Amino acid sequence: MDGNGRWAKARHLPRVMGHRKGVEAVRRTIEAAPDLGIEVLTLYAFSSENWRRPADEVSDLMGLLRHYLRTEIAELHSNGVRLRFIGDTAALSSDVVAMLEQARSLTAANTRMTLVLALNYGSHDEIVRVARAMVAEAASGTLAPDAIDPAAIEARLDTAGLPPPDLVIRTSGEQRLSNFLLWQSAYAELVFTDELWPDFGGESLKRAVAAFGQRDRRYGGR
Ligand code: FPP
Repeated sequence: MDGNGRWAKARHLPRVMGHRKGVEAVRRTIEAAPDLGIEVLTLYAFSSENWRRPADEVSDLMGLLRHYLRTEIAELHSNGVRLRFIGDTAALSSDVVAMLEQARSLTAANTRMTLVLALNYGSHDEIVRVARAMVAEAASGTLAPDAIDPAAIEARLDTAGLPPPDLVIRTSGEQRLSNFLLWQSAYAELVFTDELWPDFGGESLKRAVAAFGQRDRRYGGR
């Protein structure tokens, strides 16, 4: 969800205004997704590298997250949305951790769409956590080296049980993955759009899905 800062800058507004508009784009995108056949939507809301931003911006983003969780979970629940979180969420403030757990358990049985929020997420960090867990299991004798295969790794990623992404969309004209779902995106189709995240919405999502529909997916075959 890139481009909030540039959206604000172009209007001579503080960066936080771009993030606030970004939350509106989050709402529009979630609302449009199920009718486009999207079963799992993952939003990269805060990366493990975003802590390097100025303290007041980190605090604004956490404030927006708290507000979002407080005000939107009930509606997401009534719309049949199941929430999941990926990333090292245990390192977030304890009140946020509690809200995430509450949102997850409240919505666990919903089936219309799964919304995954990536919070304090980075693929390198995720893979390091998997490696540490596996080494600990191997050291305690519960994991044999021969049992380590792609499925064993996937079962320990934050995304365990979720399908790999078919389509990764990056806004704001940047053409890179920036530590997002690197393992999981091995065969994902990538769509880059110049639109800034606060301008994104249902029509943008529809265009990206249409572009995805034109791709010839071979998964390394033929
Ligand atoms: C990147 O734009 C965006 C972020 C680091 C934060 C994304 C967060 C939100 C949209 C709001 C919180 C989300 C939820 C789900 C409540 P940037 O600031 O890097 O933009 P720039 O590259 O133009 O400076």
